[in-house]
Amino acid sequence: MKVAEFLAKHHFSAGIDAAALLAEFNRQMDAGLEGGATSLAMIPAYVDVSKPVPTDSPIIVLDAGGTNLRVAVLWFDKNGKTRVEGFKKYPMPGTGGEKLGTGEFFEKVADLLAPVCERAPNVGFCFSYPTEITPTLDGRLLRWTKQVEAPGVVGKMVGSGITAALELKTGRHLGVRVLNDTVATLLAGKSAGISRRYSSYVGFILGTGTNIAYIEANDKIKKVKGLDPAHAMVINVESGNFNGAPNSDFDDMLNATTADPGVGLFEKMISGAYIGGVGLAMLQAAASDGLLSKPVAEAVLKIKALSTKDFDDFVANPFVQGGSLDAVPFTDDDRRTVMALGEALFVRAANLSAANISAAVLRSGEGRDPLHPVCVTVDGSAYYKTRSAFFKSRVEQGLREILGPQGLFFETIFVEDAPMIGAAVAGLIA
Ligand code: BGC
Repeated sequence: MKVAEFLAKHHFSAGIDAAALLAEFNRQMDAGLEGGATSLAMIPAYVDVSKPVPTDSPIIVLDAGGTNLRVAVLWFDKNGKTRVEGFKKYPMPGTGGEKLGTGEFFEKVADLLAPVCERAPNVGFCFSYPTEITPTLDGRLLRWTKQVEAPGVVGKMVGSGITAALELKTGRHLGVRVLNDTVATLLAGKSAGISRRYSSYVGFILGTGTNIAYIEANDKIKKVKGLDPAHAMVINVESGNFNGAPNSDFDDMLNATTADPGVGLFEKMISGAYIGGVGLAMLQAAASDGLLSKPVAEAVLKIKALSTKDFDDFVANPFVQGGSLDAVPFTDDDRRTVMALGEALFVRAANLSAANISAAVLRSGEGRDPLHPVCVTVDGSAYYKTRSAFFKSRVEQGLREILGPQGLFFETIFVEDAPMIGAAVAGLIA
């Protein structure tokens, strides 16, 4: 069986129907803003990007991502330059194989905050999980993603939970302002790109998980009553949960092995926590379908887990050593087959990422004037570090192909430590 035939048999296509995907994104985004049935939560961030950022005021920043929890004290000097002190990086509580209770989770975070808690009155908390935000920037965790194990925190207010735990521990009361990492990334792009007159901003993350934020006109956010129709607000789309992309047998196989089957389907197709798992499902199906030599098929069927990094490294260099494919006795023909399969998987991820970003740029309603493009700030290891399939440039090519013919102008930018900078901005302007 040829690779193409194998992929078709398992309903896998690296190419996408961009027009159909964009229409479905748009339909589900509308439904989410109206409070209707949709896979897109469309969470209002209660952040007004037009507010000026105070300078020379310190803010403590907490950045809870998929793998790490970072703590620092930040401020912007008179020239808008970011100053950082006391930066510390810890493993994200609940990702080390231990299952944390509600209290334990908040206590762990308070422990890490305690050493810097005297340094500023407030905390900007970049919390990279689906979280409903209140107008005062507290946040109720809707569900965990990225396989974090702290089930008791679901449904709890994370900002006030941390405030209370810290107060109990140190007697110090801090205001904790919660925002999503895509919202923080969007804000970081705005503060970095102040000299370029962009018409709108998008924040896209492709790391352990994936998601996007953009700016929506308040009169379109029908599910929230009483918003000023003359203003706009950042919306956290929670696009990792999008269910409108066609799934293959390999996606179904990976999904069945996760703690949250049926949830986060888009994220499971494109983000760092999962691509390796989809790749392993693909290789094991290829082994069963006779695409690989017998000894290789036997070895592949014994592999228990494949990280995205190991898979990407192999597809980019099939003679690489040091990953979980080391024990497989590949022939050169097997190597060619695995490369072709992996390439197809990374190409699909790049195409889907381009569709996701395009959907947000289109929703912004801006970018028609080349003088004022839409600023797309991108963050995340999977986007910048994936070597296979010319990943990053393929996403950019996809964006040009989708948005160019529609007469839309955009720019993609990178801001160092965007989630922390954005959390500082949100914490200071709140
Ligand atoms: C979370 C989002 C987050 C994204 C990127 C997803 O798993 O649901 O809230 O923005 O990962 O970190």
